[in-house]
Parts: sequence; structure tokens; C-alpha cells
Amino acid sequence: MMSFEVRPLSPVIGAEVVGLDLGGPVDDATFAALRAAWFEAGGLLVFKEQSLAPQAQVEFSRRFGDLEVHVAKRYLLPGHPEIYRVSTKKDAQGKAVGNPESGRYWHSDLSYLEPPAMASLLYALEVPPMGGDTLFANMAAAYDALSPPIRTMLSSMTAVHDYAHVLRLFSHGVRAHVGPGTLPSVRHPVVRPHQETGRATLYVNPGFTTHIEGLARHESDAVLNMLFEHAVRPEFVYRHRWSVGDAVLWDNRSTMHHAVHDFYGTGGVRHMHRTTIMGTAQ
Ligand code: OGA
Ligand code: MN
Repeated sequence: MMSFEVRPLSPVIGAEVVGLDLGGPVDDATFAALRAAWFEAGGLLVFKEQSLAPQAQVEFSRRFGDLEVHVAKRYLLPGHPEIYRVSTKKDAQGKAVGNPESGRYWHSDLSYLEPPAMASLLYALEVPPMGGDTLFANMAAAYDALSPPIRTMLSSMTAVHDYAHVLRLFSHGVRAHVGPGTLPSVRHPVVRPHQETGRATLYVNPGFTTHIEGLARHESDAVLNMLFEHAVRPEFVYRHRWSVGDAVLWDNRSTMHHAVHDFYGTGGVRHMHRTTIMGTAQ
């Protein structure tokens, strides 16, 4: 068992883990303690001053479960298809090497799949001098803060999630990313008990949730908008200011995140490697 220190970053979400090298060996007892600390911190851990080669990031991520290979193939790291590049860099031909958009809207990774993602690990190789932060919201804390009648109403609801939703919102064109009709929409309960903690958790997000089943469109929009506004109240949110070498691990089952794209035009470069751990059926 290796020792590490856990320093909360806010009362509701996020903790920094100090004294652990993710690229080195992490024994089973230490890994179990890390997972417990992760849940304790609302599903968000920050590891600073890491030096994670692609293979080491893949191996550490695999401890949590199987890794997914993202549908946007052109952003995968050659030789390491489990690594999805989030980047503003361009190659010699002027083509983006990674996704330059990287979630500039609130979302939970892969909520449009069944089962959706368990977790993501994002590792910063280059960061702009300022800007490019990421916001994280604790969806279990948001659920807890809803009044009992609303919680009861939500408990019987099912929402539809679709990858194309956000592409329509931002009019990127679905075709450019995945081709038409390659990803059917999926259904998830609006309140999803967390698989490890059992905690009731809101599981809808502006990026991929299109509507709540069985409701009229205006009702669905009203309920979803109320939940989206509620869930990202400042007291449920931690804002991460990135440094090179930061590795941030989030639980997609209990958090949403939002990349802040405020550094375009400043000349700043942001280049990151993401691994995504697949979830298991509910
Ligand atoms: C992601 C993502 C946020 C960011 O990689 O899943 O949403 O700040 N990135 O780049
Ligand atoms: Mn994301």
C-alpha cells in the first residue's frame, strides 16, 4: 500500500491527490483506496505534475475497466487508438490533430451509448497561458438539492440521448463526425443510481439529452432546462485551471463537464490526451 494525500478542492466536488505517480506501479490496495477517494470527492480527482506516456495512460486507465475507441477516428493517437486527442494543434497539412471543440457545452462523455462511459482521464501536454479551463458539476449533489416532489416526479422518467444532438446544436454537421445514422439514440433513466455508491444521481445533460419520453415537447424542454440550470449552480461546480502535467479523472456517471473555449484568438495552444473507460450495464 502506497500512501497519498487527498486535498479537497471544494466542499462538493473535486480533490487533489498528492504523492502518487500514475505512470508507476500502483498496487491493488492503493488502487482501491484511490477509487474510494474518487467517490468521496464526488467523482473528480486531480493529479498534478504527472508524466504519462501514452502507454502508461492506457495501462492506468485499464485498471478501471475496458477502454473505448472513440467514434471520431481521425482524432485518435496513431498507434494508440484508446487515446483520443483533444487539441487545438494542426498537423503539417493544416489538419486538426485532435478535437478542437472538446465539449464546449455541458455534457457527460458518451451518454449517447448503452452502456455510457464510466470515466474519463484527461492529461494535459500543452496548455494556453490563460483560459481553457474545464468546469465540473456534481450531479448527485444537484439531485440531493431538489425538493422531494420534484425528485418523485423525475423518478419515473426516461430520457433519450443522441450524439447528433450537440452537432445539431452547434451546426457542425453530423456527417463530418460520424456519418449519418451510425449512432442510434439510447434511453437512460433521468435519475440513475450510481453503480458503486448507490447514490441517486441526475443523468441528463445539455449536450446529448434530446428529450424526456412521454412528455409533450414543451414539457420536456421545461423540465430539462430547469434541471440543467439547477445542476450547474455555482455551489455544485468546480473550475479546473490546467497546468502541463495535470491528469484529471472524472466519473461520467455522477458528473458533467464543460470546456471553456475562451482562449481562441490568444495564440494559446491546448493539447491533451483522453482515455475513456467504458461503463457496464446498469
Ligand atoms: C473531453 C472534454 C473538456 C476539455 O475530453 O471529454 O469534454 O476541457 N474535454 O477539453
Ligand atoms: Mn467530454
